[in-house]
This record gives sequence, structure tokens and C-alpha cells, in this order.
Amino acid sequence: MGEAPVDWDTLTFSITETDNMYIAKTGINEPWAPGSMRPYGNISISPAAGVINYGQGLFEGLKAYRTAAGRVVLFRPEENARRMQRGADRLKMPPVPESIFIDAVEQCVQQNSRWIPPMGKGALYVRPLLNGSGAILGVAPAPEYTFMVYVTPVGPYFKGGMTCIDLLISDEHHRAAPGGSGGVKAIGNYAPGMMPSKKAKSKGYAEVIYLDAEHHKYIEEVGAANFFCYKDGILYTPELTGTILPGITRDSLIQLAQNMGVEVIETRVSHELAMSADEAFCCGTAAVISPIGSITLGDQKATYSDGNTPGDLTIKLYNALTNIQNEKDEDIFGWVHPVPGL
Ligand code: PLP
Ligand code: COI
Repeated sequence: MGEAPVDWDTLTFSITETDNMYIAKTGINEPWAPGSMRPYGNISISPAAGVINYGQGLFEGLKAYRTAAGRVVLFRPEENARRMQRGADRLKMPPVPESIFIDAVEQCVQQNSRWIPPMGKGALYVRPLLNGSGAILGVAPAPEYTFMVYVTPVGPYFKGGMTCIDLLISDEHHRAAPGGSGGVKAIGNYAPGMMPSKKAKSKGYAEVIYLDAEHHKYIEEVGAANFFCYKDGILYTPELTGTILPGITRDSLIQLAQNMGVEVIETRVSHELAMSADEAFCCGTAAVISPIGSITLGDQKATYSDGNTPGDLTIKLYNALTNIQNEKDEDIFGWVHPVPGL
């Protein structure tokens, strides 16, 4: 096989074809059995598949890192497995048992190990998918389900990594409504964000901030990342109301901040609160922590510090999180999951 044909210094968040992927299938009322690895490549699917007709699909995203301890670790993969189970329940799909999910992820990392970037250059992004692959014409659960995992080496999600990003609050579009699917990683949640995101990018912003669909007042998420702001010594993040994705990075940062003695409040975060804060950042597996330089709403613009300097707490949290992920610091919460054999 030899070395992976990748320039580790110029990695971006984009797809590189790797060696092998995992596939398992089951019927609607059958238990999952472990699947198998096969060479990475196209799959064939019925034109009437539930996922491509009615969006019966979920995805997950997690990363494998090379660490200072010379190992390869995953970060809290059990949480991704559980989130996918909750999503399966919401989209009427058979939930993949946690043991099968973890085994699939481990096999994909093991069988694509040459694609894992060196420490500090990026990570191997792991993308599990669950979807209704069976043919169905009426709007109903598909008769067959496919669980798939592929991997790809990635660099930073936002250009420049830890550089500040400028964001635009959308006063026109919403990501999710109460009672909908915003709280799970349903594939259908993402395409409607593409147009607002492209529009914001064409005006020079890195992403859109969505407000809640009911009051048009409270911050929900930053594209596909969770939002935090820090004001007068208190760290605020939007509470999980069902319309916000419960990010694993979000949960980890709440625990890390509390462990540093910082008060964290999960509440409704109005755009006024966010725009009057001392620091703001967004976070996710892909985004890690991205400091926010400014937020614009209509003709108002809030700039944090000079707009180019991440805040002190933002940097402290970034270091605390990434030092656990790359095993430079002790894993006091038991979050890292070594990949056997690597
Ligand atoms: N919000 C949305 C809509 C997402 O798609 C993601 C990505 O998974 C996140 C937030 C961040 O979640 P996590 O930290 O688990 O990656
Ligand atoms: C992630 O952070 O893993 C995501 O899934 C965000 C985005 C790439 C959809």
C-alpha cells in the first residue's frame, strides 16, 4: 500500500478517497448483524429508496487522532453511537447497536490507518451513515436499512483554523422548528442551509447564525456548529430545546469550563446577549473551536476585541479540549477511546 498520497500540510475539510469502507444491512423488523469491510467505492441503490425519495437518513461525524502517546484515539465515539440511535428512533429506522457502531468505526480506522494525518496536521474524519435503502413508494419507513462508515483525512473546517470568523445572523431563514428534526442529525436538516450559507459567504461572512423559529430572537446554531458566548465571567450556550443539535463538543466544553471553575449557563441566548458579550465562539467535531470575530444583524455589527484576536477563555478551552484529544493532557473525564492495534 505504501504512504498515503496526501500533502499533510495543505489538508482542508474535503473528501479524499481512502482504501476501505464498512457496510451492514438489515430488514425493517430484523436485528442488526455485524457488516463487513469492502474497498471504498460507489454503492448501488434503488431509485425508489426511502432515503433518496423521502430523506430517511442520518449521518454522524467523529475523528480519529494520532496522539503524543503514539496511539490512535477516537473522541467519545459512544456518544455518536447514542445520538445516532436517538435519530433512528425519530426517523423510524432500526437503531444500530452501540457495539456494532463502535466496531465498524474501529475497523474503518484500522483498515485506513495510512490516511490518519500526523499529530497536529489534522485528523481522520469518520462518517457513519444510516439510511432507508429499501424501495418504497408511499411515505412510510423503507423495508431495508443500510449502515455504512467511510473515512477521509481532514484539516480545518473554517479556513485558517484558530483565526476569528465573521458571522451573519439570518433574519430570513431558520434551521429547525419545534417538534421537527433539528435535535437529531437528519440529513434533511442540511440542504436547506446551503442557500443561506452561500449567500452569507458571497457577502464575506464565514457562516450564518440561525435564530429560533418561534420568537426570531434566540440564537440556535452557527451553520453546523454550536454557539457559546462569554460575558461578565459567565459562559452561555443555547439550551437544548429539541431544535438544536446536542453537540458532543458542546457537552465536552461545558464540562471543561466547569472544571476550570467557570460558571456555565444553558439558557435561551438572545442576539442582544450574544452581541454584547466579551467573547464568542462556535464548536463541533469539524469546526473544533472557531473563535468569532464579529456578528452582524441587519445594520448592527458586534466586534469581539479587535475582531482578530481569540478571547482568553476561548483559547483556554481550545487548548484543554485538543490537549485531551491528542493525549498531551491527562484524560480526566475518560473521553479518549484508543483504537485497538494502532
Ligand atoms: N450542530 C450541528 C447542526 C451539527 O451538524 C454538528 C455536527 O455534528 C454540531 C452542531 C456539532 O456537534 P458535534 O460537536 O457532536 O460534532
Ligand atoms: C461535524 O462537525 O462533524 C459535522 O457533521 C458538521 C458538518 C461537517 C456537517
